Amino acid sequence: MADPSSTHQTAPQRVSAEDLAARQRDISVSAFFLRNRHLLGFDTPAKALVTAVKEAVDNAIDACEDAGILPEIAVRITRRGRIYTVAVTDNGPGILEPQIGRIFGKLLYGSRFHKLSQSRGQQGMGIAAAGMYGQLTTGEPVHILSRVESEAKATALYVAIDTEKNRPDVHRKKHVEWDHPHGTRVEIMLEGHLQGGQHSVETYLRQTAIANPHVTIRYEGLEGRIRDYPRTVESLPPVPKEIKPHPHGIELGRLIQMLNATRSRTLMQFLINDFSSVGKKTAAQIIKAAGKRLSDRSYPKHTAHAQAVALHRAMDETRIPAPRTDCIVPIGEPQLLKGLRAEVSADFYTVTTRPAAIHRGNPFQVEVAIAYGHPGETPAGAVAGGDGVSTHENERIDLLRLRDEPAMLLRFANRVPLLYQQSSCAITKAVIQTNWRSYGLRQPKGVLPIGPMAILVHLASVWVPYTSESKEAIEPSPEITKEIVLGLQHCGRELSHYLARKTRQRHEIERRAYIETYLPHIAAALQDILSLSDEDRDKTLARLDAVLRAGRRKQGDAS
Ligand SMILES: Nc1ncnc2c1ncn2[C@@H]1O[C@H](COP(=O)(O)OP(=O)(O)OP(=O)(O)O)[C@@H](O)[C@H]1O
Ligand SMILES: [Mg+2]
Repeated sequence: MADPSSTHQTAPQRVSAEDLAARQRDISVSAFFLRNRHLLGFDTPAKALVTAVKEAVDNAIDACEDAGILPEIAVRITRRGRIYTVAVTDNGPGILEPQIGRIFGKLLYGSRFHKLSQSRGQQGMGIAAAGMYGQLTTGEPVHILSRVESEAKATALYVAIDTEKNRPDVHRKKHVEWDHPHGTRVEIMLEGHLQGGQHSVETYLRQTAIANPHVTIRYEGLEGRIRDYPRTVESLPPVPKEIKPHPHGIELGRLIQMLNATRSRTLMQFLINDFSSVGKKTAAQIIKAAGKRLSDRSYPKHTAHAQAVALHRAMDETRIPAPRTDCIVPIGEPQLLKGLRAEVSADFYTVTTRPAAIHRGNPFQVEVAIAYGHPGETPAGAVAGGDGVSTHENERIDLLRLRDEPAMLLRFANRVPLLYQQSSCAITKAVIQTNWRSYGLRQPKGVLPIGPMAILVHLASVWVPYTSESKEAIEPSPEITKEIVLGLQHCGRELSHYLARKTRQRHEIERRAYIETYLPHIAAALQDILSLSDEDRDKTLARLDAVLRAGRRKQGDAS
């Protein structure tokens, strides 16, 4: 306890507003996130390493898909003491030289923030944040090598971030030969820690392979460790269309900002051009319902606050068609099954894609898959599709070790695995809310179901509502949670049919074995009652045996 009579502490002094004003100044976004790096997922060395790989790989796949190129990604990790070097190479379109600095050396610079469309990146700071963390912990800039197809040589350069000004500092630029016709290599040195298990680089890559069966990934880890994830689907997913916000559920502040920023010269044009699902008729209805002296020809930028409030209410109350859903591209049931089979070895697989729904004016879609049991674990072996052959050398995930453990949960948003913050995620909450006991599983109150199974949930959306900038968990809003629960229930019912069939088969086998032991006694009793010869007795026994076996074959065919 401090001595209250101590003279070390200075007594409070009055400070004028002018004095305070002299201390107040802008905070650079880079300086802010440098100090609050946990907000971007760089809180510990182990997590920082996974996050850096994730930011680079997500960007690489996004870039390839945008350019219509089947992604081939190489991830290499090397180490010197506590300093790791992460190098991620893609076969994407490459980056124009003048853009490289801003992409890797400026926070809040990107191509995805301004449009509503489904992609892995959405904020415009992932990769620069990784570079900034590297620079903070090692003093080293990011090293980029990038080649666009029209150029004979690749550009190699180093990018540092001036965090006070949030500005790139590009140096040592060279033009070099590179055996890739186009693509980008990002190399970041950072203080890290390579760990195994649930939160490892390999888990992230494996799950990426599951949700992106069209991507080929090669991982080179420490001590010569190599893991290959070859693609199992040979075509790119369809390109998601960009979409304007839907008037339903849009927030007032966003509407006011849109009114101020629009290029449309009339309110009518504004509603039609800047929103989805609004035609002339709907726009006229909204304007009429808003009242407040608004007309088709009102100038959007001159909308008074009270008018904006009225417009906002009218937009919510007017019946407006649902948004187009070609802006969302789910993984797809057959593709998801292929991805899951390649990495998880199970006896039973089921998958479902929900129809599109809307959250805060943004369309989204949920997919759920379940893998259960161990191939060959039961005589029912290859029921319901059985076990696909492993397509590559990696050891697949064996679910049997989870027999008495909580199910393995695989969470994805726009095909990106979510490894952290499991408990605060909408997906986890939906799984816990679902009543798995009604599908024949054990589930203690308030936790995941118990059993040898993996539950996969994917949310595809034009704007994923993450709980924070580090993009680790999905906000558990009622609209989203409800869709996930519906998907889980569908898969749960399929699983319960499978489990019931398996139980029936097991009982059948037990009963047969029981009867089989009694057959010789029955034959002997028949011989006694009917005075059969030994030969006839043996014939009878053989017949009874044949009846039992024919029945078993018939049952086997039925399943
Ligand atoms: N490997 C790459 N090839 C081509 N373009 C890239 C590559 N990596 C990044 N880009 C471009 O740089 C931009 C910024 O990337 P960054 O990761 O900082 O933000 P983002 O991916 O848009 O959003 P988020 O912060 O959510 O990751 C991207 O929007 C993309 O246009
Ligand atoms: Mg990104």
